Amino acid sequence: MAEEAILGFLKNNDEIPHSGDFSVEHDLDHEEVKNVIKSLQGFGYIEAKAVRKEFWDLTDEGKKYAAEGTPEFHFFSAVPEEGTISIDDLRRILDPSVFQVGSTQAPKKQWVAMGNQVSRMVQHVEDTVKEMLLQMQQGLELDKESLKYLKNRKLIIPAKTWTGYSDVKKGPNYAPKRKIFPSDLTRENLENWEELELKEYNFNAKGQPLDAGHLHPLLKVRKQFKDIFCQMGFEEMPTNNFVESSFWNFDALFQPQQHPARDSHDTFFLKAPSTTRELPEDYVERVKQVHESGGYGSRGYNYEWKREEANKNLLRTHTTAVSSRMLYALAKGPFTPKKYFSIDRVFRNEAVDRTHLAEFHQVEGLICDRGLTMGDLIGVLQEFFSRLGMSKIRFKPTYNPYTEPSMEISGYDEAKEEWLEIGNSGIFRPEMLQPMGLPDDVRVIAWGLSLERPTMILYKTENIRELFGHKVQLKKIKESRMCRIGIESA
Ligand code: PHE
Repeated sequence: MAEEAILGFLKNNDEIPHSGDFSVEHDLDHEEVKNVIKSLQGFGYIEAKAVRKEFWDLTDEGKKYAAEGTPEFHFFSAVPEEGTISIDDLRRILDPSVFQVGSTQAPKKQWVAMGNQVSRMVQHVEDTVKEMLLQMQQGLELDKESLKYLKNRKLIIPAKTWTGYSDVKKGPNYAPKRKIFPSDLTRENLENWEELELKEYNFNAKGQPLDAGHLHPLLKVRKQFKDIFCQMGFEEMPTNNFVESSFWNFDALFQPQQHPARDSHDTFFLKAPSTTRELPEDYVERVKQVHESGGYGSRGYNYEWKREEANKNLLRTHTTAVSSRMLYALAKGPFTPKKYFSIDRVFRNEAVDRTHLAEFHQVEGLICDRGLTMGDLIGVLQEFFSRLGMSKIRFKPTYNPYTEPSMEISGYDEAKEEWLEIGNSGIFRPEMLQPMGLPDDVRVIAWGLSLERPTMILYKTENIRELFGHKVQLKKIKESRMCRIGIESA
């Protein structure tokens, strides 16, 4: 409709002066007319000038000045033609709002000289602001400078913008009717290809975004961690049990039964089934022994160890529970060195805030071999973290019930120029390993970190709830970039 009207009109006329008027005269929708003009212009059928017009409303203050004149004009008028008037007298005779605005605007315009006494600097002034406001009320156009001035004084506010075209004329490819170029190579098109003008290819056109599945950032980072471990020769431990007994989660790790982490304020205990069904009895006996009275060169904790406490089921508080099961299983056979890792969920009864949830993922690695030392631990950690892109790391002594010595790991964030706490590590205690039955020269070096922390850093997430839980936005997941840790540095 609009296209025929425009091309048809230009066949007999030189120009369409204004797309708005044209739409009204031809009873067309202006939006459609604009779209057609844009498209026809793109193909060179016509030429047109884009027009943009701002409409303004006078503010209440603006309306007042338009009707009564500006405060600066009244201020000026109150100053005698000859001589001076005191500022106090002016304050008394003028309306407070007129005095306030007038006493700043009139001297700014160099109409009056201000001091304790006020005098005129010129004999006659024009209230141009009032004039401009009256013109705007009549719908006349003002120059840019004036508009800016009135806007800054908050005398006018934008009401709407109108866009359209003026000077619409025939273009270099004008034709009274648009030619449709075939865009497909059909058999019919090929039959007379010599006469055909095909639509040009647009090699810059973007394809439709694919509606495919997307990995969550935690899974992307987890994949990279897995790859790094696998490249370093580690095997994955089976972590498919969120429910664990206190025995494997704490007791086997030489964590005393009075330890605060074993309190329900820190750990989620299960109501049903509240206790575990079976534990390896002879090993349980050795664990009891080592807690109560020690052995293997240790004095133990010297308290009465209770089986009921060890039987309690809980949601595992760390994946080290799985490591203890794996090492126990390893101790059963003839000794072979092992490198194990796991990445899975753990649960802690914590106050939830922007960096903590009651569940998170732990990344854990351990190496079990004869004669390993702190030097091995430090070397492996250096290798592991440099593959993650953190080649500057340092250690601080810390305490874990199951490791001695224990080291907290910090990494240097080159972008932020600061040290970040990134993990925990240590050498498993003999009180943990020997009751399992591992040979006494076997050492196990191990470390753990959270998956959330590096993910939040890599994906610039300030609040953990945007990463995990019901506040996660699918759009953010879809748009999250691939994770490149372990790729560049491998
Ligand atoms: N389990 C420890 C934690 O919860 C991490 C760790 C694993 C520490 C292995 C030392 C050795 O933080």
